[in-house]
Amino acid sequence: MTTAFDPDELASRDEIIALQTERLAAALRHAYEHVPHYRASFDALGVNPSDFRRLDDLARFPFTVKDDLRRNYPFGLFAVPRNRVLRLHASSGTTGKPIVVGYTRADLDIWADLMARSIRAAGGRPGMMVHVAYGYGLFTGGLGAHAGVERLGCTAVPVSGGMTERQVQLILDFAPDIIMVTPSYMLAILDEFVRQGCDPRKTALKFGIFGAEPWTNAMRGEIETAFGIQATDIYGLSELMGPGVAQECVETKDGLHIWEDHFYPEIIDPTTGAVLPDGETGELVLTSLTKEALPIIRYRTRDLTRLLPGSARPGMRRMEKITGRADDMIILRGVNLFPTQIEELILASDWGAGHFTIELTRPARLDEMTVHAEARPDYWDGAGLTDEAARLALRVKDVIGVTARVVIEPPGTIERSVGKARRVRDLRPRN
Ligand code: DLL
Repeated sequence: MTTAFDPDELASRDEIIALQTERLAAALRHAYEHVPHYRASFDALGVNPSDFRRLDDLARFPFTVKDDLRRNYPFGLFAVPRNRVLRLHASSGTTGKPIVVGYTRADLDIWADLMARSIRAAGGRPGMMVHVAYGYGLFTGGLGAHAGVERLGCTAVPVSGGMTERQVQLILDFAPDIIMVTPSYMLAILDEFVRQGCDPRKTALKFGIFGAEPWTNAMRGEIETAFGIQATDIYGLSELMGPGVAQECVETKDGLHIWEDHFYPEIIDPTTGAVLPDGETGELVLTSLTKEALPIIRYRTRDLTRLLPGSARPGMRRMEKITGRADDMIILRGVNLFPTQIEELILASDWGAGHFTIELTRPARLDEMTVHAEARPDYWDGAGLTDEAARLALRVKDVIGVTARVVIEPPGTIERSVGKARRVRDLRPRN
């Protein structure tokens, strides 16, 4: 049972750098010696693990992209024999074959430790009860969170996603202290509280750990006020491990500390691939430092953020809340925008509850964007709140610089997600 901080969690910046240098050298050797793909890609660039002496040298090594995992489906990138792999997970992605990831006993152990560390950073303490509403199964969310809950010495309630009525019942009956769920599904749970006539502020919940999809500080405010809890952000991805790569500390709520004793972050310019200095926004690239089954070197996450110095954990750098994935970026008549920017504007209104979708069409030659945003029941006028819709369209134009049609929808009509919300529907013809 973990009761105190891990020594590495409190290490100084210099100690972390020394640890990373040592672990990176070993990780590069492990990948090169045991995975044909890495041997071939290092050789093609003329680099060898022995060329790595200091952290900057990592920039000489090749990137890994999602397609490398797809092309090596299912087990081609594994660095250990299959009989040492104790667990598989897979992520379906939006197109084509899923990618498969594997864990040795040591990998599962580190994952549980890092999840326990993350839950503790979010406010969790041994003895608390944790309602896990991330999906259980091939998705890493449920089982990843679960292992951390038990490792920390908490009581796990493995509810998984879906059956929203029962979620509410169990929160009321079991009185968990913590909930772990995607922020969009938390809003669906909120609706269900309201539908059942229960006050969501009267539960035992104190902390929420939300991630697996982009969400804004405006959404944080919405959830914290509605439930009377403290909400923090958790980040991770299957390719690197699952949830628990980075976690926001509840005492500062100022971005997510990357657990740098196990993952080495870089920010690159997504077009040139050049490494950018800390503080500049770009694509997050992550290297695993300790993984046995599936070492990952310089993985291009497609997630956009920037690196900031450590705060509550001074030795580990933070990443700013993710604005979006490069894949979710909407390019509308030359202007780039992310769904999170729309989320912020909707939540700044009195009438908007945070359920929304964005539809892209091309009725004639030009692309058009329609924002469908759902009204709160107490604000709905039965007629589409046309003045409010016009006001939001103006805000979108002023703040983001694009023309959008805004339709305010009746309460309860926008499809709820059980896991990750799908915000954008692109109905433009492919050409
Ligand atoms: O979503 C792992 C996870 C589970 C993280 C539960 C947090 C909580 P994947 O399904 O492989 O893994 O999806 C990874 O989700 O590259 C991001 O684009 C996005 N993502 C994950 N966490 C966050 C977050 C899990 N806190 C992909 N903020 C990542 C924004 C996030 N995006």
